[in-house]
Amino acid sequence: MKRSVLTGSGSALPKRAVSNAELTKTVDTTDEWIVERTGIRNRYIAEDGETTSTLAADAARAALEAAGLAPHDIGLIIVATATPDNTFPATATQVQHALGCNGGIAFDVAAVCSGFLYALATADSLLANGMAEKALVIGSETFSRILDWEDRTTCVLFGDGAGAVVLERRDVAEDGPGILASKLHADGAHCDLLYVDGGPSTTQTVGKLRMKGREVFRHAVVNLAEVLGETMEKAGLEPSSIDWIVPHQANRRILDATARKLGISPDKVVVTVDQHANTSAASVPLAYDAAVRDGRIKPGDLVMLEAMGGGFTWGASLFRA
Ligand code: ACO
Repeated sequence: MKRSVLTGSGSALPKRAVSNAELTKTVDTTDEWIVERTGIRNRYIAEDGETTSTLAADAARAALEAAGLAPHDIGLIIVATATPDNTFPATATQVQHALGCNGGIAFDVAAVCSGFLYALATADSLLANGMAEKALVIGSETFSRILDWEDRTTCVLFGDGAGAVVLERRDVAEDGPGILASKLHADGAHCDLLYVDGGPSTTQTVGKLRMKGREVFRHAVVNLAEVLGETMEKAGLEPSSIDWIVPHQANRRILDATARKLGISPDKVVVTVDQHANTSAASVPLAYDAAVRDGRIKPGDLVMLEAMGGGFTWGASLFRA
């Protein structure tokens, strides 16, 4: 049988790390408050010359190297981002040009924090339809550029970065590697709980992120537990067979609460929110790459990716590594 197989991953972070202690110099907050409410201890902030497309291209190069491929092998690039370098062209076309593999398919996906899940499911479908054989799926963000640094309820939560995976259509055995099931959802009724208050068609400005954190939290735990259950059912597997959950890294308490709801041990949850904070669409591939490179996720492991973000949008994807 044919499946889309994740054959390599990579990530990129800006050079500048910013600890909670450093933030307290400019924001009315404390290390204790941030750690206790979110689990975040550090984030990376892009400086001059570091943009969503440069981080994405760096992550893509690392993923290609891990997969043993060259840029010209890639026929499809999808970048999930809510913070593109420009309103257009799509960041994916800028990444394609930076890598030097012009000519294939390249476009962006906007589903905010669940953008990587949307991009992965889209790439899987396009590969299944024969539109390309090998794809780069990238989540890349510079959320520091859309934060209101006067709003302590949001600015301490986010960071910048990028993660990428190579997806290849391959012949595999029934119990072999590849994507087994994905589920995606959106509910536009809650667009006022997490949004950016600007844009080209309204204010002609970039705008700043606005969030009702407590309400987002409540929806996140319910929606994520539900979509994980649906995805396992679609794959015909029990939650107990999952080796690793790689969740969107928004808040340590959301990760713990979701795992508890599913009866999954916290030891099976990959956590990087302490180091990266919430990097929106980049958070799932960043966390996945960290767990592959430190040897936690091994070939044959059953891995669940999941995320929820503004819109609301949410989704999950189950694959064998
Ligand atoms: N430092 C110190 N105090 C703060 C800070 C801060 N940075 N921010 C808020 N406070 C204060 C508030 O002013 C409030 O004070 P008050 O009681 O005197 O009014 C108090 O802390 C409690 O504020 P709450 O907003 O009720 O705190 P809560 O426990 O809900 O935690 C948080 C806030 C961390 C934002 C939480 O609601 C959350 O994580 N929500 C999920 C949001 C999220 O992660 N979104 C990302 C995208 S969506 C997703 O990824 C799922």
